Amino acid sequence: MKKMVKKIAVTGAGGQIAYSLLFRICVGEVFGKETKISLRMLDLPAAEGILAGVAMELEDCAFPLLEEIHFGSNPEELFEGVDCAFLVGAKPRGVGMERSDLLSENGKIFIEMGRALNLAASKDVKVLVVGNPCNTNCLICMENAPAIPRKNFHALMRLDENRARGLLAKKAGVNPSLVKGVVIWGNHSTTQVPDYTHILIGKKSLEEVIDAHWLQEEFTETVQKRGSAVIKARGKSSAASAASASVDAMRALFTPTPSGEWFTSAVLSDDNPYGIEKGLIFGFPCRSRGDGEYEIVPNLPWNYFISEKIAVTQKELLEEREMVRQYL
Ligand code: NAD
Ligand code: LMR
Repeated sequence: MKKMVKKIAVTGAGGQIAYSLLFRICVGEVFGKETKISLRMLDLPAAEGILAGVAMELEDCAFPLLEEIHFGSNPEELFEGVDCAFLVGAKPRGVGMERSDLLSENGKIFIEMGRALNLAASKDVKVLVVGNPCNTNCLICMENAPAIPRKNFHALMRLDENRARGLLAKKAGVNPSLVKGVVIWGNHSTTQVPDYTHILIGKKSLEEVIDAHWLQEEFTETVQKRGSAVIKARGKSSAASAASASVDAMRALFTPTPSGEWFTSAVLSDDNPYGIEKGLIFGFPCRSRGDGEYEIVPNLPWNYFISEKIAVTQKELLEEREMVRQYL
């Protein structure tokens, strides 16, 4: 049987997230072992030397699925016909910064990314924005790519979900695969809402296993502030875990979601079943049939604690949108 070839673009390909992400894509972790890869690596002109080195290393892995590698600094050229784009290229924050402090500088990058995808990519391209602040950057990218369906744009909130799952598994002393039903609502920022109220550990509800006070206070804050904690400890923002979450996020669109389960992705809020304002890229529980499309899972009730926090994260996203009006 002839293998299918997918054209996959990664921007910021000379940076630290990409240095993990590229290798995991090429080993077949996103599209499986039956799909060959035509890889497109984009970075700024100053990083072309680094890209040449990364390309050598990819060749030196002799990955059976890696059919060809293109790299450079021209987005329109590199996005030609791409089926899938990981938009990582952007400045990371340092110690003491909030992600939204990056908005004016990084936001402009996503005008260019959106325009180039609009002109060059497959009209069915699936886009995952990783560069921060990822929700609002994703909105900018989507608004600058009118020829691409608006549902095809995602911002990475899977890292927050994975962090929540890892933390709960450690606290409960179980394998992370037993932690089901995690959703992170809203913005990938400290206002995000890690919702513990639908989580099961094995067959038990979370509150049967873990104290409710710890869940409201320590769990919520630890997940919200995990990005800063990593920056403080490492001196650089999370990279391998962000790459791993990016792989999980894209793969989730091409794998049927098991019945009764969901994954978190930040997607367009138009037509959402929770009354969130239109025109935001907002973290929701999603499920997919495995065809690259998704739907927002309806009918997850919010208690008072969760709904108050959701109002706060929504307000922050509305404010971020106001800050970038001129880019939309
Ligand atoms: P990095 O500095 O190591 O790499 C970024 C790369 O992007 C650099 O090589 C830079 O030259 C390149 N770049 C900058 N502008 C570009 C442009 N216009 N086109 C193409 N490439 C460009 O940073 P990193 O650690 O890889 O992080 C990248 C981004 O991802 C940051 O904004 C960071 O905050 C964000 N991030 C998001 C999450 C998440 O969960 N959403 C997690 C971790 C990091
Ligand atoms: C993270 O959550 O680790 C990233 O968004 C990087 C950051 O700035 O926190």
